[in-house]
Amino acid sequence: MAVQRTFSIIKPDATRRNLTGKINSMIEAAGLRIVAQKRVKWSEDQAKEFYAVHKERPFYMDLVNFMTSGPVVVQVLEGEDAVAAYRTVMGATNPADADAGTIRKECAESIEANSVHGSDSVENAAIEIGQNFSEAEIVG
Ligand code: RTP
Ligand code: MG
Repeated sequence: MAVQRTFSIIKPDATRRNLTGKINSMIEAAGLRIVAQKRVKWSEDQAKEFYAVHKERPFYMDLVNFMTSGPVVVQVLEGEDAVAAYRTVMGATNPADADAGTIRKECAESIEANSVHGSDSVENAAIEIGQNFSEAEIVG
């Protein structure tokens, strides 16, 4: 294992219900350090670019509309094995399948409005962090 960085988004369903602090508590309790964070409102073009990997999926435009429906909190998380560690804390994409104690089990509304995003690989984490933060904004 090694210290890694991963990219996180607290999604509009969670910011709307004032769950930023609760989710940050769960992140920190899992041993991950929030080394960068900002609350922003994504444009349609930003959401389309971020989720371009899903553009052939039937839910793509619904997802873009959801991700632009309110503020998001974008974050960089740092810790041992951070990419996999955060996926474990997040829980399964569909909250109905998520383990007890995970963010999605505790907070998510649906398979789409599932409260958080986390990078799925170290490579994608580096890309996603670069799309959203300058190196000067990340303070380890
Ligand atoms: P994420 O990328 O947000 O961390 O979530 P994930 O890896 O668990 O899920 P992924 O398959 O990458 O899907 C990206 C996001 O698309 C929405 N989604 N909607 N309506 C649907 O069937 C459906 N499936 C996925 C979710 O917001 C999911 O997190
Ligand atoms: Mg994904």
